[in-house]
Amino acid sequence: MNLCVVGLQWGDEGKGKVVDILSEHSDIVVRYSGGSNAGHTVVVGDTRFALHLLPSGSVRWLGLPAREDLAKMAKPQCCVIANAVVVDPEVLINEIETIANKGITLKERLFISENAHLVLDYHKKEDQLREDSLGKNKIGTTIRGIGPCYADKAGRSHAVRMGDLRNLNKLKMKLQAIVDYKNKVFTAVYPQEALRLNAEPISADDILEKCKSYADKFGPFITDTTRFLHESIGDGKSILFEGAQGTLLDLDHGTFPYVTSSNSSALGMPAGSGVPAKFVDKFIGVAKAYTTRVGAGPFPTEQDNDIGQYIRDRGHEYGTTTGRPRRCGWFDAVAVSYAVRIGAIDELALMHLDTLAGLSEVKICTAYNQKTENRRQKTEVPSPPSVFRPPSSVVTWFPANIDRLSQAQAIYETVPGWDQDLTEVKDFHKLPSNAQNYIFRIEKVTGRPITIIGVGPKRSQTIFRQ
Ligand code: GDP
Ligand code: IMO
Ligand code: MG
Repeated sequence: MNLCVVGLQWGDEGKGKVVDILSEHSDIVVRYSGGSNAGHTVVVGDTRFALHLLPSGSVRWLGLPAREDLAKMAKPQCCVIANAVVVDPEVLINEIETIANKGITLKERLFISENAHLVLDYHKKEDQLREDSLGKNKIGTTIRGIGPCYADKAGRSHAVRMGDLRNLNKLKMKLQAIVDYKNKVFTAVYPQEALRLNAEPISADDILEKCKSYADKFGPFITDTTRFLHESIGDGKSILFEGAQGTLLDLDHGTFPYVTSSNSSALGMPAGSGVPAKFVDKFIGVAKAYTTRVGAGPFPTEQDNDIGQYIRDRGHEYGTTTGRPRRCGWFDAVAVSYAVRIGAIDELALMHLDTLAGLSEVKICTAYNQKTENRRQKTEVPSPPSVFRPPSSVVTWFPANIDRLSQAQAIYETVPGWDQDLTEVKDFHKLPSNAQNYIFRIEKVTGRPITIIGVGPKRSQTIFRQ
């Protein structure tokens, strides 16, 4: 069976944990979007793994005793970094070496798409300079060079792909042209920021030297992953697709411009891997039992108050990649239902139910009060008497457009909370009845069954329902 796991909120929903659990039954785990902006945490026993580029299925390798022969492992046998992932080579080398240091060889186990793009030093510099220049209007990116790398991919002439590492002479000429251009742009467009950051001009020779070492390190893994995946499907292998970020951060369908630069919803899976969605048997959407967001942008259910702090403290809501405190708020069923609809999500995994324990009541946002903009006032046409104009209207379809989203006021349904600690509960029927009712209510408002419930960070702290 082929599965796709995708985030339904603004990222950090707990995808890593869900992928790790499901990977036990998969032959191949595939990352298909984003880059090292992702931080996927998997906790096995007392060990915590934080992955940025390798699919979370690789934790099954990391968790092996040293020098264990991978061939003895039933599943997963392989991890794939597919075409739409933007790879920061330094981060990937780090992750590969962590595995290699355990004496585990990844040959024939790890496949990196020849079409995946490289995040190079100038991308990270550009991300930093641009964010710095935006002042209070910054997006709040992870400064991992993601936006600039995807922009170069779309622009084509300044892009470097994994496959380019096969021909270093050709790459040398390409890099010289790119670096000349970037240095000119940086000094012309960001002179003050460059001075403040003490930024030196970028050297094409330095980058080429690094690329030589990347070619050595990644050479054995670079291949046509689209072909590999189609052949594997033909051989009856089971594939698990691992989404990064979340639906509301999708470049086209999220809260633009406060999004990432890739299609991080389920819609990104086919283009991101070369495998059509019709080959996926089940799309599993991951959401937290509340909502979090890192970086700027509208967030209708945000609780910038004691409730938000309570959730942040109990859920350890600090970014895996940047360490930034995550903004916290109530579960937003309008947003999650939208993500369910555009992702054709079959089932939900609801994580962090344990975190909400101790609250006397819990809220679910089921609609928005959308203030209607009185456009007529801006024109010469006189407005009708106010008695004929509704001051606001209630919407249940998520307005991804940020002008409308920033006007949206959450309408809540309040349900009773529970005090009991849930972290040792293994069976749905052993959950306090108020926690069970909370699950039923979310199923009702999103229209999808919740088949996986997280009650703690460990693999073992998971309740399965059919
Ligand atoms: P991802 O980016 O979607 O993989 O999520 P992150 O790893 O960035 O953030 C999720 C955090 O929540 C991690 O620290 C996980 O270990 C932790 N986590 C996952 N599921 C649960 C859960 O059900 N309860 C609690 N308390 N923590 C969880
Ligand atoms: P995972 O896979 C949460 C957010 C950043 C910022 C915006 C743009 O761990 O869920 P970028 O660096 O991508 O240009 O930043 O997107 N962001 C994430 N937030 N989880 C993530 O990944 C994220 N990846 C990017 O905080 O608001
Ligand atoms: Mg994360």
